[in-house]
Amino acid sequence: MGTSQEIDLTHVTEGDPMSVFRAETLTNVIRDLPDFKGYQGWKLFAKHIGPNPVLGGGAHGGTNVFKFIYVYPAEARLINGQIPIGTMVVKELHENNNGQPGAITGALTIMAKRGGAFNPEGNGWEYFMTDTNLTQTLLRWGSETMCFACHSGAKDTEFVFSAAELEPCAASLKP
Ligand code: HEC
Repeated sequence: MGTSQEIDLTHVTEGDPMSVFRAETLTNVIRDLPDFKGYQGWKLFAKHIGPNPVLGGGAHGGTNVFKFIYVYPAEARLINGQIPIGTMVVKELHENNNGQPGAITGALTIMAKRGGAFNPEGNGWEYFMTDTNLTQTLLRWGSETMCFACHSGAKDTEFVFSAAELEPCAASLKP
């Protein structure tokens, strides 16, 4: 996985939801373009089309695109209101070809949870916008971005609007 440390979540066990944080020794994981390569092999946890399911309007590419959302590691989810440091979420837009996802369009928008002293009011998340080939960073950083202005609306779910869609695999771990 690129240049940064791997996160080991294999120790997650049912009935001990906080073990994921106890064993997580990383405190400030800095993610960058090489870490996002291969995201299409990550867990695809949400896929939708049409009006933005949260805001109703056209956030993230308008109302006529497919939105694929991938997460690494696959086990990442809300546990006691937190998502582990090191988690990466990539959102990819696809054209709508008569109701089927077509070519990738627009930019990739990405969230990476750094932790440490980074963006404390935003729980350590860094926001990125990159080209679709992951060769160029068009925007990055924390609370001063327009990304955060909107995502602060999802503060209760770790700034991830689609967090509920991570839950099915985690139902048994919920406190
Ligand atoms: C106008 C409000 C708005 C802005 C601005 C915005 N987002 Fe989002 N974002 C949303 C909403 C709502 C969702 C969930 C629904 C969806 O996927 O369309 C979302 C979903 C995401 C997701 C998938 C995880 C999740 O929260 O569900 C990522 C990653 C993401 N946005 C990154 C970004 C980045 C990076 C930026 C800035 C470059 C940004 N967003 C700007 C509203 C916004």
